[in-house]
Amino acid sequence: MIRAIYPGSFDPITLGHMDLIERSARLFDELIVCVLNNAVKKSPLFSLEERVKMLGDVTSGFSNVTVASSDGLLVDFAKEKDVSIIIRGLRGVNDFDFELSMAQANKTISSKVETVFMATDPALSYISSSMVKEIASYGKSVKDLVPEIILHKVEEKYNIL
Ligand code: PNS
Repeated sequence: MIRAIYPGSFDPITLGHMDLIERSARLFDELIVCVLNNAVKKSPLFSLEERVKMLGDVTSGFSNVTVASSDGLLVDFAKEKDVSIIIRGLRGVNDFDFELSMAQANKTISSKVETVFMATDPALSYISSSMVKEIASYGKSVKDLVPEIILHKVEEKYNIL
């Protein structure tokens, strides 16, 4: 039984995140999608509870995917759940420095964890949660960037009719 954690801030979940969830759910017996705080990203658009609810909605069709949250360190959550594999997506070279140092820092704190990088689908590699928020903040549709069932949640936040 191989279990993995897919961590992130998911503010909000994008089609890029969905692609990684789908592919990871095929690779591993169990996948825990965990919403965590990113110390650099202050004032999230969605509360932790809203993000967990949205992730639960978009992953309800996967029998081996569960959603959790933590306000602590990722490696502590992994230890608590007895999971050693952390999945992260790489969209391109811009992600690489941050992702490498995070993987190395996590490894230093907890030698048991292994970070597995997955290359993002090239058709989705331009998508980020920040881009979703920026486009929506100008009143434009983000229907090609987020799962359909959470589109209205983003639109509500920006009063997009
Ligand atoms: O989607 P993001 O914002 O790129 O995800 C980053 C996240 C939330 C996975 C990362 O910031 C994290 O693990 N936060 C929890 C606190 C932690 O463990 N920090 C140490 C990382 S070096």
